[in-house]
Amino acid sequence: MLTREEILEALKALQEPTLDKSLVELGLVRDVVVRDGGVSLTVVIHPESTAQSAKLQSELKSALARIGVEDPHYRFRNMTDHEKADALSKLQQGSPAAGASAAPNKAGAPVKGHGSGLEKTALLNPESGVEFIAVASGKGGVGKSTVTVNLAAALARQGKRVGLMDCDIYGFSVPDMMGIEERPEQAGDKILPVERYGVKVISMGFFVEDNSPIVWRGPMLGKMLRNFFAEIEWGELDYVLLDLPPGTGDVALDVHQMIPQSKEIIVTTPHATAAFVAARAGAMAIRTNHDILGVVENMSYYECGSCGNRDYVFGRGGGARLAETLHTELLAQFPLGAPDNHPSEPNFSPSVYKPDSPTGREYTALAEKVIQLCGK
Ligand SMILES: Nc1ncnc2c1ncn2[C@@H]1O[C@H](COP(=O)(O)OP(=O)(O)O)[C@@H](O)[C@H]1O
Ligand SMILES: [Mg+2]
Repeated sequence: MLTREEILEALKALQEPTLDKSLVELGLVRDVVVRDGGVSLTVVIHPESTAQSAKLQSELKSALARIGVEDPHYRFRNMTDHEKADALSKLQQGSPAAGASAAPNKAGAPVKGHGSGLEKTALLNPESGVEFIAVASGKGGVGKSTVTVNLAAALARQGKRVGLMDCDIYGFSVPDMMGIEERPEQAGDKILPVERYGVKVISMGFFVEDNSPIVWRGPMLGKMLRNFFAEIEWGELDYVLLDLPPGTGDVALDVHQMIPQSKEIIVTTPHATAAFVAARAGAMAIRTNHDILGVVENMSYYECGSCGNRDYVFGRGGGARLAETLHTELLAQFPLGAPDNHPSEPNFSPSVYKPDSPTGREYTALAEKVIQLCGK
């Protein structure tokens, strides 16, 4: 399989028409993703190059065809003013862009001075005091998003200012789970998160058309994530929860790199296999030096409504064993059972437990624990 570096190498000869310098050297070939034998990428061009973009596209296709890439997915877009200033300064310095070499920078990773705008975002400044908590799992379907939205709502109930970033680009579900139907509004050149249960929410789902081809989502990812920081007006926050896609893929890595100070909660079911797979997500956090706040076990048992007897339908002990493996603690065990919410209720959401329900109270307890662990 081709690597990102091989693709950049093949495209080195392509010149940005207006700036008259290699696109690759200017760092204008972005979001290169090789997946399932297909290649997708974004080319950023100077606004005055628009007339030449058809020619550039055919050059791009020929260059990729030469290394055996048929039918690449590419997107052209114009530079923002910020990117333009950045490209011009690179031209003046005559130095290649940091992201253009075969250095181990990932396409989506922030590169200092690379015009990502990230260096300016207050939220990411470690002095902002914002506590980032990435919620991870080994595999999908264990309730990671459920835990994220309920912990976010519970933290908000404790009077915390909470943001939630739904980073699961392939499986974003937070808007639906929280019953959000509106879309973010624009305020000047910024986008306002949608507020629900006191939580400021931004999701990939707000920006990706329902039926857009999935192949575009990978390439958009790095940019999206950056935009979550650079272009969203978050205001002041105490906590930001990140709902990661399952596993230890690119997004998790991007988040780890972009937010080195983020802490982590690992979600698993009690089943031994689920806990085993979740250990990988934990191992990744450890390898990348992220604090693990603890493990949350979801779907731990089913409690009979009439007799109170607990059935451990998915087995027992996975969460505790995982916590032990990762040298951390088991923070909570949530039972099986969807929230008792009805679409006719005002403020309906399919997945947020009512604060005064048994599971809702357990989420409040989890929030208290998290606040205590984070010390704020
Ligand atoms: N404790 C639970 N009891 C019953 N259903 C649950 C529970 N937790 C999650 N679910 C349901 O399981 C499915 C997967 O949960 P989700 O939070 O989307 O998982 P993930 O984000 O890990 O893929 C969803 O339909 C969700 O409503
Ligand atoms: Mg999910």
